[in-house]
Amino acid sequence: MKGRRPSLRRRLGVVSAAAVAVAVIGVSVAAWLLLRDQLSNVVNERLDRQVVFAVKIDSAGMRSTVQSGGPDTPLYQTVFPDGSSLTPVGQASIPISAADRQVARRQLYDTTEDVKINGTSYRVLTRWIRTKQTGPNGHAVQIAIDLSEMNGTLASFGLVLALTGGVGIAAAGVLSYWLTRAGLRPVDRVVAAAEHVASTQDLSAAVAVGHRDPNEVTRVAESMNAMLTALGASRDAQRQLVEDASHELATPLTSLRTNIDLLLRAENHPERQLESADKQRLLQDVQAQMHELDHLIEEVVELARDPRSGEEVEEIDLAEVVRSAMTRAKARTPQVNFTLTETPAIVRGQANALERAVLNLLDNAAKWGPPGLPVEVLVRQWGASAEVKVADRGPGIAEDDLERVFERFHRTKEARQMPGSGLGLAIVRQVVQGHGGRAWMSRRDGGGIEAWIQLPQVGPATSAL
Ligand SMILES: Nc1ncnc2c1ncn2[C@@H]1O[C@H](COP(=O)(O)OP(=O)(O)OP(=O)(O)O)[C@@H](O)[C@H]1O
Ligand SMILES: [Mg+2]
Repeated sequence: MKGRRPSLRRRLGVVSAAAVAVAVIGVSVAAWLLLRDQLSNVVNERLDRQVVFAVKIDSAGMRSTVQSGGPDTPLYQTVFPDGSSLTPVGQASIPISAADRQVARRQLYDTTEDVKINGTSYRVLTRWIRTKQTGPNGHAVQIAIDLSEMNGTLASFGLVLALTGGVGIAAAGVLSYWLTRAGLRPVDRVVAAAEHVASTQDLSAAVAVGHRDPNEVTRVAESMNAMLTALGASRDAQRQLVEDASHELATPLTSLRTNIDLLLRAENHPERQLESADKQRLLQDVQAQMHELDHLIEEVVELARDPRSGEEVEEIDLAEVVRSAMTRAKARTPQVNFTLTETPAIVRGQANALERAVLNLLDNAAKWGPPGLPVEVLVRQWGASAEVKVADRGPGIAEDDLERVFERFHRTKEARQMPGSGLGLAIVRQVVQGHGGRAWMSRRDGGGIEAWIQLPQVGPATSAL
């Protein structure tokens, strides 16, 4: 079984406490070493000053008893070149090392070392001297200073440092744990909100964004809210589409059922046989209604499709897309004459989706344009945009309806008699907006409609046509 990793707040707490610990220990050790150096220097200077007294005592032949004999009083000793020594009366003798003997023989000027005398630490300075009494070869004098006080001071200072450092580190640990806890509380809120959304599917449960919270967490909360809003809007749109679609499907389904009922009843009751022409008309109705249903379902599926998924986005020439849509429109409505004026207009997008949008505009123009008058199509670059215009000479659309025709299932009063489900322009707008462009209708001088698609163009801005 894999062990659980410690929580972020525990890790942050440990890391910051460890950082404080390293800093505190580092500073304490440095302070202690500095103090030891300072105190050691003081002792060395004192030893140096004592050389004068050592010489005096030495001159007296070490016969003088050393003054008080207290811990502050240095110890003295003479070391002769032959290795023998002379210690003042009543004073403990200082151990003599090889280096001390070298000093006595003038092979070294002086030497300092720490030694233990009767269990007490001393620092000993051994220095070569030459006086009237010593003769030309001179000899060494030794001065030893008790280090107990220095060591005591260092020990207590070390203890104080260890205690204050320990307390400081513990306090830092507690404080950093508490601070990370407090700092991560807003993250907890975001996590709780995310878990709530995951378990309840309630997309309206926004995360509270406190303005006292740290910026990063506020940003996370805000992005999450934005994501929830977008998800909610998309889910609402899907739900709306399903509701609208089932409502719209109801009408053709009802008339389909009525027609089939009529046909069946006639079949089952020979006395109520239908005239052959009536039967033919009913069957044609059924076929038309089936087509309508087919078309409606196809369009609903198209609208429900996630525009970002599926088709690849690539650089395409809008003129090519329009030509291909025109070929399909001509096949559907051979009686309609389409004219095309074009310049290359490069856009980034999904070719099939754009072709579908253009085809919807061509279908409308073909449906509404009066027979004999051409549907005029234009593709051009305009500023930083690539544009498509589909113009017809049909009945046009009332000013008030120009925007509403893009709503799903919205059809003008005049259109109710014509085939169609009112989804074509909704698809156009969805595709175009998905490509960062816009689609609109405008009334044409002299009657009819101009349907426009405008997309961001790839490459330098130009203006042609
Ligand atoms: N060129 C046009 N001339 C006049 N009215 C139009 C034109 N194009 C669209 N309309 C109006 O806008 C409405 C919506 O058009 P849309 O293409 O969305 O639906 P539709 O053509 O009725 O059905 P379909 O879903 O088959 O396209 C139409 O019902 C019609 O009232
Ligand atoms: Mg249409």
